[in-house]
Amino acid sequence: MFFAECALSGRPSVLNERQSAKTNKTILEDKFFMAVIVQAEGLTKQVESGGQPLIILHEVNFSVEAGDSLAILGASGSGKSTLLGLLAGLDSPSSGTVYLDGTDIFSFDEDGRARLRGRLAGFVFQSFQLLPALTALENVMLPLELHGAPDARERATEALRRVGLTQRMDHLPKHLSGGEQQRVAIARAFVVQPKILFADEPTGNLDAATGSQIIELMLELNRAQGTTLILVTHDEALARRCNRQLHLAAGRVM
Ligand SMILES: Nc1ncnc2c1ncn2[C@@H]1O[C@H](COP(=O)(O)OP(=O)(O)OP(=O)(O)O)[C@@H](O)[C@H]1O
Ligand SMILES: [Mg+2]
Repeated sequence: MFFAECALSGRPSVLNERQSAKTNKTILEDKFFMAVIVQAEGLTKQVESGGQPLIILHEVNFSVEAGDSLAILGASGSGKSTLLGLLAGLDSPSSGTVYLDGTDIFSFDEDGRARLRGRLAGFVFQSFQLLPALTALENVMLPLELHGAPDARERATEALRRVGLTQRMDHLPKHLSGGEQQRVAIARAFVVQPKILFADEPTGNLDAATGSQIIELMLELNRAQGTTLILVTHDEALARRCNRQLHLAAGRVM
């Protein structure tokens, strides 16, 4: 944990200082150990489609350091949502694996992955996936209540204020516009202050002005809290604001 904190803060760790007298190779290995928070290793997803095998992702390898921001780009159908779902352990790969904060997430069953995700990550779905019977406020309170937070209502109210929805907190999802539902989904994902925020086209349904406010909010989380951002987007402006871009074409990293 200490090493992860050093990586987030940019402070050199004791380990790093001690290693400075050793070989460059050892230092590089320690840096890797300290800073990588998401690692995809040989990720492949194959499904059956019309009786034929369909490879959606081919041997995807990359890593993301704690506190970094990565935009995943690619044409519709290139495998972006599939990749994001695998990185967060929402779906299982055909081969390969994902390490989150050094843990092989597919060494756990679904419940174990859900617990790990609850501890580390927030996820914004392309289709929002708000609970229809709960108001905007209750949707955002839910993950806090699952964590046993005593101040769930206050924190959820503040998160909704930050996405500009103070006037819509008591609305059910069906009485919110697409962009408003998207902002509730974003508030629900960041309210637990996750180490990693995964978001699938977080500005896809927003007008330019609201989209740019949401981009600023996510970058602010990245800067101020060291939240690692992994975003799928078609929005070139958003992609350029991220430190790194990963381009997918037909399930392969370009
Ligand atoms: N369970 C499945 N069975 C069959 N085909 C699938 C399945 N899941 C995804 N696909 C196909 O895999 C491809 C990649 O899907 P994915 O949703 O990852 O694309 P995407 O890059 O997110 O596209 P978009 O930009 O339109 O959201 C698509 O052609 C999709 O139809
Ligand atoms: Mg998609």
